[in-house]
Amino acid sequence: MFDEAIKLGYRHFDSAQAYKNEYLLGQSWKRSGLKRQDLFLTTKIAVQNFSKKRLIRSFEQSLQELQTDYVDLLLLHFPVSVLRKKAWLNLEKLLQDKKVKSIGVSNYTIKHLESLKKYSSYKPVVNQVELHVFLRQMDLIKYCQSNQITIEAYSPLAHSKAMDNKIIKSIAVKHHKTYAQVMLRWLIQNNLVILPKTITPIRLQENINIFDFELDSDDLLMIQKLPSNQRTCWNPTRIP
Ligand SMILES: NC(=O)c1ccc[n+]([C@@H]2O[C@H](COP(=O)([O-])OP(=O)(O)OC[C@H]3O[C@@H](n4cnc5c(N)ncnc54)[C@H](OP(=O)(O)O)[C@@H]3O)[C@@H](O)[C@H]2O)c1
Repeated sequence: MFDEAIKLGYRHFDSAQAYKNEYLLGQSWKRSGLKRQDLFLTTKIAVQNFSKKRLIRSFEQSLQELQTDYVDLLLLHFPVSVLRKKAWLNLEKLLQDKKVKSIGVSNYTIKHLESLKKYSSYKPVVNQVELHVFLRQMDLIKYCQSNQITIEAYSPLAHSKAMDNKIIKSIAVKHHKTYAQVMLRWLIQNNLVILPKTITPIRLQENINIFDFELDSDDLLMIQKLPSNQRTCWNPTRIP
């Protein structure tokens, strides 16, 4: 599917040690003939690799899998309480050694970001979190935007677990767009980076075809009134 995506113009790919998709992504890049600098590759350190030795070793392994000598963005996958400080300091070391272009975090709440401030020398450039029309996280968006941290919205389609909302359907009909396109467009209009996933070629095309329409203020107001508590992935708010 990476091959198809590259052909359609996707250039930003989100991988992770935990997804076991780094090798496939690396292979697709090699097959594409694109220069390395034409792609933006992210990977994430899995929580079981947060200790210093494992972090460095697993990162080297990730580079091998991706068949590259650097990643554009390296993230800590989840804010586990025990090792996340040490893991962050080791990410900073990789940044200083120029082994990664940028570093960031994933699933961090405002509380985790505030505690990170106390021991970090570098700001995370990205916080990758679950975010979609049914889990809007406006406080986190405001916090990250005012601290110059880019939010990457994962599960932007709510993992396809809420594809029958009447309001979203009506907005889609009004704009002659699909339900998924309305969900993705809302994120784009909030200045968020989106990470939709699909294994269906026609949906790859659909999910990138969202730059020729705009949600208007009525649409945005209706979306703002939707319930915003639908978490479809893990919940980091319980982590101290
Ligand atoms: N950092 C983290 O902890 C974390 C956690 C979760 C995810 N992520 C990242 O975010 C990415 C996406 O997240 P996700 O897979 O959980 O959720 P998602 O992108 O919100 O949803 C994927 C689901 O939506 C379906 N879908 C895709 N396009 C569609 C369309 N146009 N119309 C209808 N259904 C559509 C897919 O089906 P088909 O594939 O069958 O087409 C799949 O079942 C992941 O690949 C990963 O890179 C990160």
